[in-house]
Amino acid sequence: MSKKLLIAGNWKLNGEKKDISFIKNLVKFNSIKLSKNVDILICPPFTMIDRFCQLTQRSQIQIGAQDCSEHDFGAYTGEVSANMLSDLNASYCIVGHSERRLYHNENNNLLNKKILNVQKNNIKAILCIGESLLDRRNSKTLRVLGNQLNGALKNNINPNLLEIAYEPIWAIGTGLVPDYSDIEEVHDYISNKLEKLYGKKSKKIRILYGGSVNSKNVFQILSIKNVGGALIGGASLKIRDMKSILKQFI
Ligand code: PGA
Repeated sequence: MSKKLLIAGNWKLNGEKKDISFIKNLVKFNSIKLSKNVDILICPPFTMIDRFCQLTQRSQIQIGAQDCSEHDFGAYTGEVSANMLSDLNASYCIVGHSERRLYHNENNNLLNKKILNVQKNNIKAILCIGESLLDRRNSKTLRVLGNQLNGALKNNINPNLLEIAYEPIWAIGTGLVPDYSDIEEVHDYISNKLEKLYGKKSKKIRILYGGSVNSKNVFQILSIKNVGGALIGGASLKIRDMKSILKQFI
């Protein structure tokens, strides 16, 4: 596939001032090893987005958020809007991570509103979808993913500002990875589904894989047909791991 890969780090609830050295280090690494084949994205907590955006300004590295509000502004204590993210120059926002769906009861209708809001602010949405272990055991994986896509991608979502991340819930943070043939089956399914929804424009949408990606398995996973990148949690927190992942594609 000729699409550029997207390698994205999801820092979750990790990251303090001392971790600014990570991004400085990554910028230095990237300026030595400029990559034509990979887009590099780091999604730190909200508190670090501004600083990270400033530090990466003259680099190829992009900065994104892990979530945002479905609202633009107003009396919503604790929320951060897509407009605020755009004000800081964030270029991506993860939407519907399974931890948000699980711990914050986020459903497909809400995620649809969030995607629309993100895109309205010219930010790319990375919609996460994934099945539970029970779904997989009951052979419901494709049905569950299909419902998640149908529910979140209604109301004129812009395919030019969209990426999908397939993250089996049971693979996140567990060290378990599906059989590569299963990843291929799911990515084929998502790719066909996107083609039905968006025709030729679907070809621009990258379908990332996420769930226990590390420097040892990333190359093989990203060689699977229709896998357009990786969403990486744990292994994206250590600069050494990130560099050894990126080196394989530069
Ligand atoms: P993991 O997390 O790489 O630590 O499994 C991935 C994610 O939750 O996006």
